[in-house]
Amino acid sequence: MKQTRITDKITYVEPDSMARFSSCAGLIVQSRKQIFIDMNLGESDTRTLLEQRCPDAAVITHFHLDHSVWTHQAEKAGIQVFVPAKEAAFLSSLDHVVQQTAGPLGCGKQWHAFVENTQGFRSLTHFSSYGPDTVFVEFAPEMVVMDTPGHSPGHTSFYFPDDRILFSGDLGLDRFGPWYGWQNCDIRDLVFSLLRLDGMQINLILSSHGGMIQKGISDIFMAKIKEILQREHHIEKQLSKGKSEAQIIENGVFYLHKKKVPQPLKTFLDMWDSVMFQHHKNLLAQGGLTAFFPELSQISNALSQQSRL
Ligand SMILES: [Fe+2]
Repeated sequence: MKQTRITDKITYVEPDSMARFSSCAGLIVQSRKQIFIDMNLGESDTRTLLEQRCPDAAVITHFHLDHSVWTHQAEKAGIQVFVPAKEAAFLSSLDHVVQQTAGPLGCGKQWHAFVENTQGFRSLTHFSSYGPDTVFVEFAPEMVVMDTPGHSPGHTSFYFPDDRILFSGDLGLDRFGPWYGWQNCDIRDLVFSLLRLDGMQINLILSSHGGMIQKGISDIFMAKIKEILQREHHIEKQLSKGKSEAQIIENGVFYLHKKKVPQPLKTFLDMWDSVMFQHHKNLLAQGGLTAFFPELSQISNALSQQSRL
């Protein structure tokens, strides 16, 4: 793991590897008490850090397993675990996770095995919930909970106004872009979340999968919205050319280079691409993103013109 001290209070921790959706970068906040956020570094490194630092609270931005499976280690160590209230059921039941994710998509058995055996999911019995109105007053009163749904129903980012630092979680500010591969993801909510953050004063972004972002912050949120619009335009164009849904999904919506990926990962990538396709198709049936965000019309029109060239 790599620990980078950002301020007196904030340390950014990156795992050695993020292969196979098994880990993410996290944050140590040392304020009135010590908080770990999304410290999913892999079982051994997380254990080491928990033992070294003995935090008072363990917080996750959302239920996705690459951010959350470490919480059972924190629970076992007697640390108070906080999960977004909207996603509490995902932490307490593997059956619920499967039913709300891969189960209805025909991959329940494979996903159950992967989550339990490869990712090491263990359900929690003792944890607290938090929401957009929560102030972590006993732990870090200066930390602002930012409700940023869309990537997941209760996805949360954390803002530190004293230093204008944002821990963005999994908003997709990395080179891969925003991800919405489960049915409970919502493109409209995600765009709204990005637009909210676009209006904020931010000097540094610490992201879950894209490292530290210091340059181009004033443009990054709109750039990510543009990527979502590009996907929408691409899908609309492919459908108008007579391409089948299966062909579009096989060619990739988010995962563009998946042909040689081994099983069961290939099945999962196709499943997520299929869901992302459906989200776009549903939106297109309602007039597309600009029907809900007229302020994006100019960007959308420019993309249409480019794709006609
Ligand atoms: Fe995620």
